[in-house]
Amino acid sequence: MNIKEILGKLTIEEKASLCSGRNFWLSNEIPRLGIPSLRMNDGPHGMRVLKDQSHLWVHGTVKAICFPTASALAASWNRDLVQRVGQALSEEAKALGVNIILGPGMNIKRTPLCGRNFEYFSEDPLVSSEMAGAMVKGIQSKGVAACVKHYACNNQEYQRMTISAEMDERVLHELYLRGFQQVIAKYEPQLVMCSYNKINGTWASENSELLTEILREGFGFKGLVVSDWAAVVNPEKALKAGLDLEMPGTGGVSQKRLLKAYEEGIVTEAEFDRAVTRLLKLIEKTPGDCSASFDEEKHHQLAKEAAGEAIVLLKNKNQLLPLDTKKYKNIAVIGRFAVEPRYQGGGSSHVEALKEENLLDSLKSLAPDCSFSYEPGYSLKDTESPAEIDQAVKAAEKSDFTVLVIGLPDSYEFEGFDRTHMDLPAVHNLLVQKVLEVQKNTAILLVCGSAVSFGPWLDEANAMLLGWLSGQAGAAAMAEVLLGKINPSGKLTETFAHHLDQTPAYLNYPGENGKVHYGEGLYVGYRYYDKKKIIPAFSFGYGLSYTCFEYKELKIGSSVFKPGQSFEVSCVIKNTGPVKGSEVVQLYVGQQDIQRPVKELRGFEKISLEPGEEKRVCFVLNDEAFERYHCQIKGWYVPAGDYSILIGTSSAKILLKGQVKVEAPELDHVFDVQDQLLLLAGHPEAVKALEELTAHESIQRVVPGLTVEMLLPMRDLPLYRLMALSGGLFTPELIETAVKKMNENKKSR
Ligand code: BGC
Repeated sequence: MNIKEILGKLTIEEKASLCSGRNFWLSNEIPRLGIPSLRMNDGPHGMRVLKDQSHLWVHGTVKAICFPTASALAASWNRDLVQRVGQALSEEAKALGVNIILGPGMNIKRTPLCGRNFEYFSEDPLVSSEMAGAMVKGIQSKGVAACVKHYACNNQEYQRMTISAEMDERVLHELYLRGFQQVIAKYEPQLVMCSYNKINGTWASENSELLTEILREGFGFKGLVVSDWAAVVNPEKALKAGLDLEMPGTGGVSQKRLLKAYEEGIVTEAEFDRAVTRLLKLIEKTPGDCSASFDEEKHHQLAKEAAGEAIVLLKNKNQLLPLDTKKYKNIAVIGRFAVEPRYQGGGSSHVEALKEENLLDSLKSLAPDCSFSYEPGYSLKDTESPAEIDQAVKAAEKSDFTVLVIGLPDSYEFEGFDRTHMDLPAVHNLLVQKVLEVQKNTAILLVCGSAVSFGPWLDEANAMLLGWLSGQAGAAAMAEVLLGKINPSGKLTETFAHHLDQTPAYLNYPGENGKVHYGEGLYVGYRYYDKKKIIPAFSFGYGLSYTCFEYKELKIGSSVFKPGQSFEVSCVIKNTGPVKGSEVVQLYVGQQDIQRPVKELRGFEKISLEPGEEKRVCFVLNDEAFERYHCQIKGWYVPAGDYSILIGTSSAKILLKGQVKVEAPELDHVFDVQDQLLLLAGHPEAVKALEELTAHESIQRVVPGLTVEMLLPMRDLPLYRLMALSGGLFTPELIETAVKKMNENKKSR
């Protein structure tokens, strides 16, 4: 495609038409120049292709494989697995003629209440970017484009289309943009979807700082920015700010506005060309291929594998699990989710699954020698009705072993609104409590896509598994974990607090008067629990196994680090238990500084080990492991100091510790008349200029013998205030000259 030639042939009207969609899912086409429409569909954990492409919701969707949702995939901590899921998605996309998959979603889980947390990976930017990156890599391996979303700070569904997320620049960069930055640098997604909300008062869709300065000039993004569906408020402002494609189409309304803005000189032809060029480049990369097909059974098995790796063993007192079918023959399965599985959330990601497994049937076929009874225990419609509990308790009492499935009903996890609390339905809590009273051999299986708080029964529970929203094959995987055919290896990528009032954003959510202040700053997820020394119900990174691992022989490649270098950290992990298992080894780095989190995740690897086997796990650390964002220089720098290198099995269980000294130049400081004396005293070039200032004959004449030391007790005084406090003796000119000299001294240093 000769883009320059095409741009020369396109009329301004055609260019304006290419800046917005043709309908809900297609971009505009220009047949006379051979420019086709691009077809984009959700995503992210299965293909959601509407039977009638011109509509948003009606007429249903084409059936496809429903993979586990993002929170489950992330809990696998397995890049290769997530990449294979991405690859499978792209095969299905191709078979359906889809050029762009609208995913993955990678917003940070700031509050457990966010209605879309099941669609997001983590509370941590590294996990988010690595998981999103793996997905992008898989999707884009087959000529389909991935679209990371929602850029940025769409961390709640409450008023998602209007709220302004307010935070300082450091928090924005270190926490909320960091994942996007990393995924763009490492995995090159072809699209970014801007979010609905405002960031510090400016719509994401018309935020030139975010869409151009940061995304393009800073992160080096080369692809196309598409709006979230109906996120554009002013198409001309959006185009100017760096948005390339407004979706869905507005029936010509936006095109007219853009042309009017062009006639008025507000929008230039170069701005149209910029957006159209990006669209044409994307068309080149995503040819579309309706003749493709995919192997349904293979994808179903992959969905099962992913679900199996995501399941987190939360509790296992006295090794109650795996269920010993030689010992326990008479098994009660309780909970309606066992026969009516819940395996995905609601909203634009909802997939019409090709088939579904259920737990009861899966258990029966895997353990034909056992007898199974089933009781629903609760209704899926009426979450408050305890009517079905008595029968369930009787069944549990009669059994040798009970499998109890509880969790969040559909109405709790839905795009477009948040939960109002993080509790399980009261009837589920009551059911667990009553069952545990009569049956200690109970394995609780939890079905939910985001963190919940547990009832007072938590201490009483002996065995607990977190199954997440695990896709169409999830129930089969859960049965295999229960019976020990799969050794669980999932770990939490979000903290499970005991109560909502312990969670980081509790005092700053949902906001009011159109604004939500991210008052907890950097302290989201484990960064918060660490700093406040709060022990949650289950920590970030936590998850048990049917085997055990020993951590030993930490090696740190260098005891001193200088910016620009890299070094290796490694340790040996040994499987000391009876069965094969996988472990997620986590590396955190921390600096003792009140202005920084206690530690931050800087690397993770998942390894699989046979009983008795050991392997050395290696990490390479570079500037990214130490750097922080600085608002004055509008960039990253590596602060000098002593850092801890921490390797553990969760954020709360660090098993190996080492140290590294970072030697780095001090951050360049531009001296200013408002700098405080204490700060100036720390810089020799400033002290030199201050000495000249106090020695000035006009000052010495009035205060003979005045020295810099005599001024220093006024440590917090900004230099300029000397003017008023000296009755004008320190004139503005003298002070400004001193500051000029400080900056000059610095250059000649
Ligand atoms: C969602 C996006 C989704 C789009 C298209 C929006 O409401 O926020 O994530 O891709 O709809 O369905």
